[in-house]
Amino acid sequence: MFDPMLNLARHVSLRQLQVFEAIARLKSFTKAADELYLTQPTVSTQIKRLTDVIGLPLFEQIGRQVYLTDAGRELQTAVKDVFGVLDRFEMKVSDIKGLKQGYLRLCVITTAKYFAPEVLGRFCQRHNGVDVSLKVTNRDSVLERLISNKDDLYILGQNPERELDMVTKAFAPNPLYVIAHRDHPLAGEFDIPMERLTGEYFIMREPGSGIRDYVLKTFEQAGLKPRVRMELGSNEAIKHAIYGQLGISILSLHTLVQEGPEPQLTILDVRGFPLQRQWYVAYPKGKELSVVASAFLAFLDEEGEQLSKQLETTYHRLAARREVGADSPEPRSGARPRPADTG
Ligand code: PGA
Repeated sequence: MFDPMLNLARHVSLRQLQVFEAIARLKSFTKAADELYLTQPTVSTQIKRLTDVIGLPLFEQIGRQVYLTDAGRELQTAVKDVFGVLDRFEMKVSDIKGLKQGYLRLCVITTAKYFAPEVLGRFCQRHNGVDVSLKVTNRDSVLERLISNKDDLYILGQNPERELDMVTKAFAPNPLYVIAHRDHPLAGEFDIPMERLTGEYFIMREPGSGIRDYVLKTFEQAGLKPRVRMELGSNEAIKHAIYGQLGISILSLHTLVQEGPEPQLTILDVRGFPLQRQWYVAYPKGKELSVVASAFLAFLDEEGEQLSKQLETTYHRLAARREVGADSPEPRSGARPRPADTG
């Protein structure tokens, strides 16, 4: 079946349309050839081919003057549209290249919600034409989304041990501390052996939480079992349970960044803590990262520094009671978050 659109697409080149446009505008084959740095026979050949495909003459030459035929005028309108669209497309591409616009889909594990929106906010301030979406979900769902390539980048609390084909990069520390109410009897003690924790009521994150897995593994490796009083589905719920003196827990220091100047919570000085973990940014191997996603990856490196400093301040606020105590030694080395291992 004859399909005129297909016929044009197959047989007409953008170069021919460009030559046609120049002749129609300049009303001269010679001037068009000069403008396009082509020879006059090349220009004539291109127009002959175009005329053959369209099946109607496009120009008439009366004396030395070139005129458009009716078909020529129609083509001139169509070509203006085509080049207008291409021009706009070219502008958009260069905007994207210059990060003046674009879209970033970020998916993060639950606890990363304590810093991801701020990091995205700072990124958007730097590139204010960029739009973002943020999905916060549990570890299994982050990994599912990663496998099915739903988002541009993913933030996880640990390198997935599952055999997933992905690129990962550590960008900031994610230290876990033992957290208690500031009036807890262990709050003033130093170098508390981990065994002492098993005598305390423990508040545990829900199944599926990355932190829960890590905490359980840590107890298991120490040959200990926490005395779990309750399981709660969010870090915030756990903090409230600690405010209510229902028990102690192990939390990421990021969850405590917003605690006020008189925090009700404190960090217990437990031997072997903090558990030093990292935040990882990941994407499936072979994925073609967008310009915006690549820029965000680089931005995370800068943010790693900032997040480390924020954790340092938080640590000092929450460990302050011990540090100002009469016979308080400085916290053991390693008790503070180390800068991100970005290797
Ligand atoms: P979670 O994971 O919020 O699911 O506990 C965070 C982490 O693994 O650090």
